[in-house]
Amino acid sequence: MINRDTQLIGLIGWPVEHSLSPAMHNAAFAALEMNWHYGLLPTPPGAVQATLSRLKKHGYRGANVTVPHKQAVIPHMDEIADSARVIGAVNTIVIQEGRLIGYNTDADGFLAALREAGFEPAGRRALVLGAGGAARAVVYALAGAGCSVTIYNRTVQRAAQLAHHVQKQGLRSPVTWVPITTTLSDLELSDFDLLVNATSVGMWPQSDASPWPDSFPMPSHWTVYDLVYNPMETRLLAQARAAGARAIGGLGMLIHQGALAFEMWTGMMASIEVMRAACERVLVERMGQGVTGHQPDLG
Ligand code: ATR
Repeated sequence: MINRDTQLIGLIGWPVEHSLSPAMHNAAFAALEMNWHYGLLPTPPGAVQATLSRLKKHGYRGANVTVPHKQAVIPHMDEIADSARVIGAVNTIVIQEGRLIGYNTDADGFLAALREAGFEPAGRRALVLGAGGAARAVVYALAGAGCSVTIYNRTVQRAAQLAHHVQKQGLRSPVTWVPITTTLSDLELSDFDLLVNATSVGMWPQSDASPWPDSFPMPSHWTVYDLVYNPMETRLLAQARAAGARAIGGLGMLIHQGALAFEMWTGMMASIEVMRAACERVLVERMGQGVTGHQPDLG
């Protein structure tokens, strides 16, 4: 129950009503018997400043930021942590003495999920599908962790832009992109160790779609990470398993970026298992009702 002592966290995005984050964080607060509450702050484009003022006015302790505002909030921050500055997006805001501090936990959340699943990126080679906001965090995370990255995107120009942006950050490993003159058949697929789907292809309700064409067999030594978590079992993951590759779903990244944000707001460690169970419960419930809707990327 919310009372005058309840510490508030909000989710800024548009739309936000299908997000798993309230269930995930409120379960973690409850497990630690904390009088904290995570609620939705639906914010249409153009209303970011008004929502941020509301946070300050009502004494919020922090917020998550999701699509489409991860870049739009940046000019309104009093301070930007390196993690957010380099990626160019804020997904977590901590409010300290009325000051808004912007962080990004997506990249570290992705690495934590990858390592939890047993894949160490250092010294490996990744093929990343997509060049949007989600891909940006993944590419930054991998290159920073010593994994070389090749970006493959439908719109080649966006892949080139992302590669250039990340290259300028002086990270440990090189980042390249697949040029317009090259197709999947020109790539030496066995040179890669990791395939990451950072596109929205395969997300509910287009769950029959896959970003990977059946005509290109996946090498069995691959690890395949699909950022899509709704549905939990995507067609891409089924293709990976059929090829004998290791398949990892996107729920881990959602949970780990959330757990890192939780720690920044509260100074406490959230239970990963409690968070995972809460997310799975909501997804299973929605599947039963045939309702799922938009997957608000992360957060
Ligand atoms: P997000 O911030 O969640 O990453 P986004 O910035 O809209 O969202 O990026 C979505 C990604 O999915 C992009 O890489 C997009 O490719 P384009 O840059 O060519 O638009 C990719 N994507 C979406 N639908 C796709 C489709 N049907 N086939 C291939 N790629 C697709």
